[in-house]
Amino acid sequence: MPRSEIMPLWQKFVEDCHNCRACPLGATRTNCVISRGSIQAPVMLIGEGPGVEEDRQGLPFVGRSGRLLDDLLLALGFEKTDFHIGNIVKCRPPGNRVPTTEEAEACRPLLGRQFNLVKPKLIVTLGSTAWRWFTRQEGQISKIRGQWVKKGGIELMPTFHPAYVLRNPAARTLLWDDLAACYQRLQELRAEARAAADV
Ligand code: URA
Repeated sequence: MPRSEIMPLWQKFVEDCHNCRACPLGATRTNCVISRGSIQAPVMLIGEGPGVEEDRQGLPFVGRSGRLLDDLLLALGFEKTDFHIGNIVKCRPPGNRVPTTEEAEACRPLLGRQFNLVKPKLIVTLGSTAWRWFTRQEGQISKIRGQWVKKGGIELMPTFHPAYVLRNPAARTLLWDDLAACYQRLQELRAEARAAADV
């Protein structure tokens, strides 16, 4: 869809997010935290929920874990236009706790709309909360990470949350490997699209 058609839909989506009071987090947030990166992007990364800095700035992954994520993505060769970063919930759970079932379910329709606007080719879920709520599947992230999973025709890579990697530096190479697999897959998809355009 051309940008001129996407923008009004995106602006309405953003307005609806800012007006959302579907769960109690709407009353305690400073800002509704929607996305960072390209509006339409081939790779969509999904985290858990905003922390204190994200709530303050209104942008996802702008604290320490976000800096690690950006460092890895850019070192791997991703362009800033290649990715869109969001979260399972758009408002900060007080005390940085894990979002409740009620909060994650209440936010799901907005995440669905976001996904339909971004139209990613690849999804990366960061940590177990994102995996669980995006796929509605259980699973221990250390066991399922690093393997592509098909979800409604989209390829999804579960990996560690960068905050976990900050607490467990040995996991850094595994997060790197999973994001590298994503970069590699993106290049393959682009090569396939070029080849298809040539025939
Ligand atoms: N952790 C998350 O899961 N999301 C953010 O936006 C920031 C930290």
